[in-house]
Amino acid sequence: MNLIFLGPPGAGKGTQAKVLEEKFGYRQISTGDILRRHVAEGTPLGVEAKGYMSRGDLVPDELILRMMDGELEQSSDVILDGFPRNVAQATALDELLARKKRNAVAVLFDVDRDVLTDRLTGRWTHPGSGRTYHAKNNPPKVPEIDDVTGEPLVQRPDDAEETVKNRLAVYDEQTAPLIAYYDDPGDSRLARVDALAPIEKVSRQLIDFVRSHPNGAA
Ligand code: AP5
Repeated sequence: MNLIFLGPPGAGKGTQAKVLEEKFGYRQISTGDILRRHVAEGTPLGVEAKGYMSRGDLVPDELILRMMDGELEQSSDVILDGFPRNVAQATALDELLARKKRNAVAVLFDVDRDVLTDRLTGRWTHPGSGRTYHAKNNPPKVPEIDDVTGEPLVQRPDDAEETVKNRLAVYDEQTAPLIAYYDDPGDSRLARVDALAPIEKVSRQLIDFVRSHPNGAA
């Protein structure tokens, strides 16, 4: 079973994708991480994407869909973290999954708006792996240093407060409609987790969900 992680910036999607990767062998496909690698390497895609990302706007669908082409080729189950981001991307994903005879369940990270800015402005990231920490909620053993590699952590430029405001507005306008898209009353493909809970409790809900699902454990 493939999983689509749906939720606003800072809901904890990346944090939990790493947990399920480790626990069940899922492959996390984070469109944000892939784009940030392109930006860091200065590829043509990175050069085009950079301005959109630094403003907190969505990168155009055409670039994203080209980038995602091939990501579902391997047979391993995946967690789509940050894709789809609007109805056009969701429709394209459904077509792709149907062609490959694969299915996916969306998991909505339910969270109150007022914690998100604090989660994002306090976030520290290990650029090589995408591992994230939080200065208060989930600190590394040594401040600003990755626990696993000992390499320095960085703060994402789009986690500045002003940019976060725009990312949240973009989420409301373009991504939140996907909740209704996946929660079709006749054929719901949406599960929910309480993402306001502490990190370990969110992980527990997700692990229980995967284990209890008929096609669950990857
Ligand atoms: P992307 O990298 O996907 O960012 P995002 O969706 O805004 O999500 P975040 O990574 O900010 O949040 P998260 O939910 O993963 O939170 P995390 O687990 O890190 O996208 C960046 C940009 O790329 C976009 O703005 C856009 O420009 C572009 N882009 C990407 N995909 C695209 C697409 N498909 N189409 C077009 N453009 C695209 O947690 C956040 C913090 O909170 C961490 O510090 C963590 O330690 C802490 N935390 C996590 N869970 C908890 C908890 N339960 N309690 C307390 N603290 C917690």
